[in-house]
Amino acid sequence: MLDKLNSLFDDFKSKIESLETQADVLNLKSSVLGKKGSLSEILKSLKDASVEVKKQVGPVSNQMKGQIEKLVQSKLNDIEVKAVNAKLAKDKIDYTLTDDILEKGLQAAGLHPVTQIQREIEDIFISMGFDVLDGPHIEDDWHNFEALNIPETHPARDMQDTFWFKDMKHLLRTHTSTIQVRGMESKKPPFKFVGPGKVFRCERTDATHEMCFHQLEGMMVGKDITVGNLIYFMKTLLKEIFKKDMEVRLRPGYFPFVEPGFELDIRWKKPDPKKGESEHSGWLELLPCGMVHPEVLKAGGIDPNEYNGFAFGLGLDRLVMVKYAIEDIRHLHSGDLRFNEQFKTF
Ligand code: PHE
Repeated sequence: MLDKLNSLFDDFKSKIESLETQADVLNLKSSVLGKKGSLSEILKSLKDASVEVKKQVGPVSNQMKGQIEKLVQSKLNDIEVKAVNAKLAKDKIDYTLTDDILEKGLQAAGLHPVTQIQREIEDIFISMGFDVLDGPHIEDDWHNFEALNIPETHPARDMQDTFWFKDMKHLLRTHTSTIQVRGMESKKPPFKFVGPGKVFRCERTDATHEMCFHQLEGMMVGKDITVGNLIYFMKTLLKEIFKKDMEVRLRPGYFPFVEPGFELDIRWKKPDPKKGESEHSGWLELLPCGMVHPEVLKAGGIDPNEYNGFAFGLGLDRLVMVKYAIEDIRHLHSGDLRFNEQFKTF
């Protein structure tokens, strides 16, 4: 009887080694341990054996059963690990991107115009003493809405405008004003900084709307800051970008986080295709801005009786479109080299 058991076990071991799928392993297991399996058959035949034999065989067969189960489990694991490794090898990401390859990519297409203008604007603000801050794309309700004095009932919180995560607590930031909140949390006034980055809105795309675009936020907090300071910094910025003095005007604009809030327009000459060479001029809405709302300062841990400030938001894609007279925002995300190549700077 013991011999039978031992040869069954040896046979099992040699068979399981060569198997390659989990299904085959499970089949082999049931052919041994299943109700009609070979080990079960041997045990069944025990009932006619002598007490002596039963005493001898019982513990051995139990031990063997345990070992078989262990072998099956470890074989199943091995197969799984092999499959995962094979998949990883197939889908592998090359982390060895070298400067050399990156350089070749840049030679081919150059920096994207939005990246170019972002860097240009960062440099302008750095030269005026501003810091450049960053913030996460995935935000919480506090940084995107609550701390910015955007009430629960505000339409921007609607599913139509905001990409919410399933937990309804996290979202893809809808504006870079989140960086205002993060800046106030991490700095002591007086301070001034800009924060550029991607923002996301649940938009149907068309010539002027994208679900992902770029903004650059700016904030200055100190003592006795005025609208005059705001206009000065905006005019300096625009002069650097457009390489000439730009005429600006402020109109009232509503944003819950500024009071008073403005739309800043520039006087703009746009080539008119219908009239051939002639140009028509008018005001172009360029950037929303305003004096930081006292509630927003409070939420950022700043005493509004002691400090005040201004904030503004620049749409970088829009600025690129105005600067280069691009008619459709979708070109910017097309990844089309023929588009990108036109902005090559080297
Ligand atoms: N966060 C606003 C938007 O995305 C823009 C803004 C920024 C307005 C700063 C005022 C001040 O629409």
